[in-house]
Amino acid sequence: MRYRCITVLYALAVVPLGSLAKPLSPRWGPMYTKHSWNAVPENWQSQGHPPPGTTINLYIALKSHHEDALSDTLYEVSEPTHPRHHLTTEQVAKLIAPHPQTLELVNSWLMHQGIPSSSISMTHGGNTLTLKDVSITQANALLNASYRLYKHVEHGGTIVRTVGYALPAGLHRHVLTVAPTTSFFSPPPRTQRHPPPNGPDGGAVGLVRAASGEPVTMLSSREEIDTINPSFLRWLHGTSTYIPASTDRNSLGIVGFLEDYPSPADLEAFMRKYRSDAEDATFTVTQVNNGGYDPEKPAIEASLDLQYAEAMAYPTPHIFYSTGRGASNTDDWYISFLGYFLREPRENIPKTISTSYCSEEKTASLEYSVYVCNLFGQLGLLGVSVLYATCDDGVGKDCTLSDGTIRFKPPFPATCPFVTAVGGTMDYNPEVGASFSGGGFSDYFKLPRYQRRVVPAFLQNLGNKHQGLYNASGRGLPDISAQSVGFPIFVNGEEKEVHGTSGATPVVAGIIALINDYQISRNRPVLGFLNPLLYGRAAVALTDITSGTNPGCNTDGFSAVPGWDPVSSTRLFFFFFFTFDVG
Ligand SMILES: *[C@@H]1O[C@H](CO)[C@@H](O)[C@H](O)[C@H]1NC(C)=O
Ligand SMILES: *[C@@H]1O[C@H](CO)[C@@H](O)[C@H](O)[C@H]1NC(C)=O
Repeated sequence: MRYRCITVLYALAVVPLGSLAKPLSPRWGPMYTKHSWNAVPENWQSQGHPPPGTTINLYIALKSHHEDALSDTLYEVSEPTHPRHHLTTEQVAKLIAPHPQTLELVNSWLMHQGIPSSSISMTHGGNTLTLKDVSITQANALLNASYRLYKHVEHGGTIVRTVGYALPAGLHRHVLTVAPTTSFFSPPPRTQRHPPPNGPDGGAVGLVRAASGEPVTMLSSREEIDTINPSFLRWLHGTSTYIPASTDRNSLGIVGFLEDYPSPADLEAFMRKYRSDAEDATFTVTQVNNGGYDPEKPAIEASLDLQYAEAMAYPTPHIFYSTGRGASNTDDWYISFLGYFLREPRENIPKTISTSYCSEEKTASLEYSVYVCNLFGQLGLLGVSVLYATCDDGVGKDCTLSDGTIRFKPPFPATCPFVTAVGGTMDYNPEVGASFSGGGFSDYFKLPRYQRRVVPAFLQNLGNKHQGLYNASGRGLPDISAQSVGFPIFVNGEEKEVHGTSGATPVVAGIIALINDYQISRNRPVLGFLNPLLYGRAAVALTDITSGTNPGCNTDGFSAVPGWDPVSSTRLFFFFFFTFDVG
């Protein structure tokens, strides 16, 4: 590991952190705003002070000693040419560790503020100080915040947040962010999209009956292509004949929020109808951070995610992570489940994790988003492939920002360069980008090195179109796509048809789980963070999607073109992965 050396050298060469000379000084200087919004973020309404007795867990994310160590190492170990040696938990902790003086300084500040050291712990792989059960009064004093209870005007969910917070001047360059403070999103389920989107009609298509490998001709009416099912998807992605061989050492995780649960009875009904060789498919449920579970109350999102991951990757073990927000129901969604994974032994973390929830990038601060993205990066370092849906709003739904300007709204965490963003397609022959497929460019994360060859080519062709509505130097998304229209699912015993990148994501995750299965069976490393591979050598396993648009924000959106594009980009073909050595 290159960075182990650098860490040591850096420690020796580090410029003494000026004001740290007297770390125990009781004087912390004036407070300076760390982050604040001009107004309460849209769709949230203050309900006044939180109920008396409310406590929150505060996460203080410390800056890493060497800022670029995580991304440099992640890209290095994920490169197809690199003999992929993912890191151990201990190696990750060392890589991301804060400078010892940072730790000392922040701890002495907390002590000075009367926070007992017994309530402080180091979490999230090693650069987060977690303060358990802080009272609102104490949190307000610590951060010059004014925490309120906020209610979402549409779905009615509540959160405890502050519109701004501050830290003593001397702490700014040591602390990346504090959460929960100003992040106002709530990840909404993205699949309740019942009216099928319009698209070009499919014609007669040549399908290959997977089991025999013989081409058969099927007439494809609109209806037929509007209904996706496991046999079609397995044929399309070339996975039908692969028999998993490493199910004792591989698993696929589905992350659920908002008390969405899948039910075993629905999975069985689905498999009986659509994949009868897999009727005995099962899953386990892990309740994270007070997440609930009630198989009698299944929800669309969780059912879709689980049923299609299983449809692709059966009999790989599936784990559903029902993620809650802690005992006081105030914890941050992403920090909750990432904290859970990052304190598990590495072998307990699924090799592939699929999540079909998202929020708008601009509903949280840059620093918060960087922090959460780095937590995903840690998973990549540990050898986990993390897949995120890009949402179903094209370039954005309601695009007037609070200051009146119009801006496309890229979805987070898909904009994080350390996750694989999955967009949606529809139809077949040609397969086209779905009109709702989320795509665009991040306002927070710059173009990652793995996109340096493809994204500028797209932008050059785009010219002036949509200038000012998106960030031309930002990370582009999606990275990959899959069918997303017309998924039959079973929910509470009833069959429904749903659409969305929510369906595409577990399908891709299922394929990745199968490739990992193959890798494990050959005693090879699992794929881990996928993007350097997808934009590099695995390109031969991808089919370019070259038509379709993703309108939104009162524009016609972007257009799919040959090569990378921010609509639907490419589709993965399993067996092509083995025409080259993935290492
Ligand atoms: C501290 O909080 C007050 C009241 O909310 C606010 O007016 C002030 O700007 C804050 N100070 C800093 C440095 O953020
Ligand atoms: C565009 O992206 C770059 C790189 O992430 C960033 O530094 C810049 O602030 C962004 N500009 C806007 C207007 O969001």
